[in-house]
Amino acid sequence: MTATPAALALDHVGLVYNGRRPDEVVALTDISLCVESGEFVTLVGSNGAGKSSMVGIVSGALRPTRGRVLIGGRDVTRHPDHRRARHIARVFDDPRVGTAAELSIEDNLALAMGRGSRHGLRWALSTRKRDRMRERLAALGLGLEDRLRDPVGMLSAGQRQSVTMIMAGLVRPTVLLLDEHLAALDPATADRVLALTASLAEETGAATLMVTHNMEHALGIGTRLLVMSRGRLIADVSGERKRAMDVNGVVELIVSAGDAVSDRSILPERSELPT
Ligand SMILES: Nc1ncnc2c1ncn2[C@@H]1O[C@H](COP(=O)(O)OP(=O)(O)O)[C@@H](O)[C@H]1O
Ligand SMILES: [Mg+2]
Repeated sequence: MTATPAALALDHVGLVYNGRRPDEVVALTDISLCVESGEFVTLVGSNGAGKSSMVGIVSGALRPTRGRVLIGGRDVTRHPDHRRARHIARVFDDPRVGTAAELSIEDNLALAMGRGSRHGLRWALSTRKRDRMRERLAALGLGLEDRLRDPVGMLSAGQRQSVTMIMAGLVRPTVLLLDEHLAALDPATADRVLALTASLAEETGAATLMVTHNMEHALGIGTRLLVMSRGRLIADVSGERKRAMDVNGVVELIVSAGDAVSDRSILPERSELPT
């Protein structure tokens, strides 16, 4: 019996920036990880822990110094990001990245649908597709459904990030990468986009990796929580253990690795932090 390969696998991945120079930085050390289709992993860790480096390695924006990256069992370590684009969708922290400002919502979505298809870009959405888009946009409650022809550059950060998310879903990615994608949003909008994130991840069935510094988000979504410290994975919590964990539990893991917690603002008042 052959097991289906994991949607995403990192095999002893290491990353060094500026190798053999005085400003050398060891960003990742011996990261091994498997994420299955449909699994939703949240990733936390203090500033500089290596979270974005890990996302960059998966997307192909960065080449690991050691180890391998496999998508659906295929070794893509040497594939540049554009060759992985069919299988990977990535949403960044900056809402301006990921959509074309001068294009309308509709054209951005059409562009996403054409991405990676044999037919190249299809600029016009069929009426059926446009109706489906409008429905999905309406469900967000951000008033986007009546603005399909507005340039994306005119939208608020939350509206624009939502369009990026919907575009990510249209690619039907094997792997969905979210790097602090809620960080620039106000709390109410972040909650809406988080709900959208959950439904998109479920719909696409992707292996999802979401980086966040907000521990309530890290605990409130997903099936598995990873903690990083100084380029290493120091905790991997899932199932009942994750459900039972609270913010202080996560902070304790980070602090016990000797790291500072980057954003105490989201901690409950007077929480008992280990010293
Ligand atoms: N382009 C780069 N050149 C040199 N060092 C970098 C670069 N990008 C990140 N680093 C360093 O690598 C380490 C990990 O950074 P990063 O992956 O951005 O962490 P995180 O996303 O967890 O904050 C940090 O020490 C950071 O300063
Ligand atoms: Mg980062």
